[in-house]
Amino acid sequence: MIDLHCHLLPGIDDGARDLDEALALARVAVDAGITHAVMTPHVHPGRYENTRESIGAACEAFQQALDQAGIPLNIAPGGEIRISDEILSLVARQALPSLGQWEGRAVVLLEFPHSHVPPGSDKLTAFLLRSGYQPMIAHPERNKDILRRFEKIHPFVEQGCLLQVTASAVSGGFGAAAQACALTLLERDWVTVLASDAHNLGPRPPDMRPGYEAVAERFGDDLARRLVREHPARIIGLEAA
Ligand SMILES: [Fe+2]
Repeated sequence: MIDLHCHLLPGIDDGARDLDEALALARVAVDAGITHAVMTPHVHPGRYENTRESIGAACEAFQQALDQAGIPLNIAPGGEIRISDEILSLVARQALPSLGQWEGRAVVLLEFPHSHVPPGSDKLTAFLLRSGYQPMIAHPERNKDILRRFEKIHPFVEQGCLLQVTASAVSGGFGAAAQACALTLLERDWVTVLASDAHNLGPRPPDMRPGYEAVAERFGDDLARRLVREHPARIIGLEAA
């Protein structure tokens, strides 16, 4: 499996606190069948001041640590970008962290605040699409606005944004409402990837198996494989997926 969204890089957001915890998380990921993971720390102005450069450097150091520890996990730099006007200046400076490519466009993982979908977000995603980027909305199934009014996600799907659903949300790890929302998104075939969004060894581990199994049971093995392997492989440019 390939995990496109996780917070394993040590000490730079609310994920792994230090290198020991990061390595422990990586071991759990490998044991759970994850071979490749994109590091997506929060990029959240005023809260987590991560940049493409700082994430790249942290990722390189962590890959070395993984190699030294003999943990067979291939990692690449990305980022989970909080929806804000700062994105405009990141685009202008060509400094937007990306997960990889989808149909020739750089994939940008975007996060809404959990409480709501900020007004104008669809204008920002439309601007990104016009600018040649491919927005991917992180975990819409956990957003309170979308849980209250499912149609809040419609404009983003209609524009051509991709959706990333949290693997454990599909198996009920974020409650019944998030699970129902995730299943509806899957039924409509609006989901491009499942990802762990792992933060820690406790309630948010890097384990996509329960989600994979829940999708396989309900929608078939083919879709489950597409969401955890084929689509993520295409995005990170991995041949022979
Ligand atoms: Fe995340």
